[in-house]
Amino acid sequence: MVSDNFIPYEGVTYSPEETAKRSQSYYDYMDKRRTVRAFSAKPIDKKIIENILMTASSAPSGAHKQPWTFCVISNADLKAKIKVAAEKEEYDSYNGRMSEEWLEALAPFGTDWHKPFLEIAPYLIIVFKKAYDLKDGVKSKNYYVNESVGIAVGFLLSAIHNAGLVSLTHTPSPMNFLQKILNRPENERAFLLIPVGYPAADIQVPDIERKPAEEVIVYYE
Ligand SMILES: Cc1cc2nc3c(=O)[nH]c(=O)nc-3n(C[C@H](O)[C@H](O)[C@H](O)COP(=O)(O)O)c2cc1C
Repeated sequence: MVSDNFIPYEGVTYSPEETAKRSQSYYDYMDKRRTVRAFSAKPIDKKIIENILMTASSAPSGAHKQPWTFCVISNADLKAKIKVAAEKEEYDSYNGRMSEEWLEALAPFGTDWHKPFLEIAPYLIIVFKKAYDLKDGVKSKNYYVNESVGIAVGFLLSAIHNAGLVSLTHTPSPMNFLQKILNRPENERAFLLIPVGYPAADIQVPDIERKPAEEVIVYYE
């Protein structure tokens, strides 16, 4: 069925050689992305943040509902408030809420309940998922909300990396304190907290390996 509100597709296609080259160079580039846990306070132009967020918002979503809100925190008082609340949750998690197995899995990353980066990074992006839409008090359904918001965050992390910036995908669980501090409406739930900035000087990252193709891909030919 062709609806009368369709428009020509304007995407670009390449020769097979160019396609191979681009797929390889993009993989090589993305494979250099790393999570960092120490940031520089060097400021970043707001327009840059808006560009990376609009890249995230270009992601596909169930029934094109775009069920996300990106809250961008640069206000120092709010960052301090978020740090206090996040560290409280993290303290409880590291001191009893997380299983031994979980703590063991985290050991190689050297993390603990201290989260100084929440005040140092120039921006905290808090991604909220919209469990349902709420306009003028009227509720309507969203579809595949977790899948959609997860994909948008993938776009976001790749846009941050592409801009030469770094991020941390942070989950100070449970995250409902963010909904309260930021005064978000009842249909929004905090999904991820992502500090963005330049890396701290001389930063080190955990020496991890990524699974090889044979472990993550199954071909049926
Ligand atoms: C959903 C999700 C939640 C995460 N939560 C945290 C977190 O709360 N704190 C943290 O330090 N890292 C967190 N990470 C980062 C992972 O530890 C990191 O992505 C992983 O070790 C792989 O490292 P890489 O991102 O450098 O490839 C999280 C990552 C994801 C995808």
